[in-house]
Amino acid sequence: MNISIDNKPLAEVDADAVIVLCFEGRKEQRFGADGLFESGEVAGKSLELTLLHHPPGVAARRVLLAGAGKPEKWNSAELRKLVAAAIRHLKSKSLKRASLWLDAGEATPDSICAAVEGAILGDFEPDRYKTGNDKKTLESFTVVTASPAASQQAAASQGRVIAESQNFVRTLVNEPGNRLTPARVAEAARGMAAECGLECEVLDRAQMESLGMGALLGVAQGSAEPPAFIVVRYRPTQPAGSVHLGLVGKGVTFDTGGISIKPADGMEKMKYDMAGGATMLGAMRALSQLRPAIPVTAFVPCVENMPGSRAQRPGDIVTAMSGKTIEVINTDAEGRLILADALTYARKQGCTHLVDAATLTGAIVVALGHLNVGLFASDDALRDRVLAAAKTEGERMWPMPVEDDYKETYLKSAFADLPNVGGRWGGSITAAMFLKEFAEDTPWVHLDIAGTAWIDDAKPFTAKGPSGVPMRTLVRLAMDWR
Ligand code: BES
Ligand code: ZN
Ligand code: ZN
Repeated sequence: MNISIDNKPLAEVDADAVIVLCFEGRKEQRFGADGLFESGEVAGKSLELTLLHHPPGVAARRVLLAGAGKPEKWNSAELRKLVAAAIRHLKSKSLKRASLWLDAGEATPDSICAAVEGAILGDFEPDRYKTGNDKKTLESFTVVTASPAASQQAAASQGRVIAESQNFVRTLVNEPGNRLTPARVAEAARGMAAECGLECEVLDRAQMESLGMGALLGVAQGSAEPPAFIVVRYRPTQPAGSVHLGLVGKGVTFDTGGISIKPADGMEKMKYDMAGGATMLGAMRALSQLRPAIPVTAFVPCVENMPGSRAQRPGDIVTAMSGKTIEVINTDAEGRLILADALTYARKQGCTHLVDAATLTGAIVVALGHLNVGLFASDDALRDRVLAAAKTEGERMWPMPVEDDYKETYLKSAFADLPNVGGRWGGSITAAMFLKEFAEDTPWVHLDIAGTAWIDDAKPFTAKGPSGVPMRTLVRLAMDWR
C-alpha cells in the first residue's frame, strides 16, 4: 500500500473517498451532510460509518463520515481502530484510494502514526492461499492536513514500520503447520534479519544437546521435524546504561498435544501456537528500523509437538538446562518446557530483563476471555513499564497473581524437582509459576496470549485470524526505556 502525507484544504482532497472524523455530541456540520446530524441518522458513535456520495464542495467523490465516539474518550488507539474499520469498509466496496482528513488540532505525530497503522492493519487479509483474483486491497492511503509540519513524514514512516511488522507477525502465525516447520521459522528469521541488518543465529539439535536443553529436546523428540532455537540480536550504536532486554517467544509450529493428544475438534487452530515467537521476530523487525537506545535480543525456541514413536511419555523425567529436573505429567504442557530452557539461555546470554509471550494455557482464556492478555510479573517496575506500554498501544493486559503459595500448593512432584502441570485449578497461574522457576531472580514478565493472539470472528476493524498482539507493546517498551 502506498502511504503518503499531503497538505491542502479538505475541499481539495482528491480520492475515491476521504475519511472525516465525526464526534458524538459535536453539532458542527460538515460537507453537505446537512440534516444528517439533526435527524439522528449520523450520531458520531464509535465506529459508525456513513458513506456520502458526491458531497457538494468537496473534490473527492465520496466522504466517509467516521464516528469517533465521545471526545473525552478519544485517543490514538481509538483512531487506529477507526481508520482500520474505515479502510475495511472502503475496500469491501472496491474503493482503492483513501484519504484521511485531520484537523489542525488532530494532526499530532501520534495520531498520524496511529492512522497509518490503522490503514495497514485494516488492509490485512489472511488470504495468502486463496487462489481467486477477486482479492480486495487498498492502493493508497494519504493523511491530509491543512498545513505541513516537520514531524509528519517521520510519524507516517514510523507507523508504517510498526504496522508492517505486525502484519509480518500475522502472516507467520497464519502459516499452517505443514508449511511452517521449525526450520522454516528459522529461515524466515534469517531472511528478516538479513533485510533489517540484525544478527541472527540458529542453534540446531546438536548445539542444544551440548547446552543441556533437555526440557526443549524432550518436546522435540516426538516429531520428524528437527527443532530450531532462533536468536536475533539488535545492538544500539551507543547503548544507554547496562540494560539488556530479552524477548522470549513460544515457537510451537503445531501443537497436537503429543502423547497426551488433544481432541480433534478445533485442533487445526494449533498452528498459532508459535504466535509468541512470531511476535518477538516482528518486534525485532520494527526495532531494527526504530533503533531503541538499549540492546534487545529475541529468543525463539521452535519445535513441533507430535506423538511420534520417539515422543516423550507422561511420567518421563527430563533435566532442564538450568539443572532442574521436571516430571512430564502431561505432554500437552509443552510450551513451558521449551520456554524453561529458553529463559535459562537468555539469562546466560546476559539479559537483565526478560519478557516472554506464549499461547500457553487454555486456562487464561477461561479467566480473561479473548479481550485481555494475562500478565504475570516477578518485578513491579518491569510490570508497570509493560502495562504503560500496553496502554499507549491499546493492547489490553490484565495483571494476574504471582505468589509462591501457588507453587507450594499446586506444583509438587514426588519424583522430580517440578511437575510440568499443576492441578485443575489456576492453570494459567501454575504455568506462570513454573516459568518463574527458570527466570529465577531476573526481572521477568510473562504474557499469556492464548486468548488474544487469534481472533475467532472478524470485527469491523480487523480480519479473522492472527491479531499480532502484543507486538506493539514490546516495541513501545523498548523504545520508551529510559
Ligand atoms: N498451546 C496450548 C494452550 C492453548 C490452548 C493455546 C488454547 C491456545 C488455545 C498449550 O500447549 C496447552 O496445551 N496447554 C494445556 C496445559 C494443560 C495440559 C495443563 C491446556 O491449556 O489445556
Ligand atoms: Zn500443548
Ligand atoms: Zn502449546
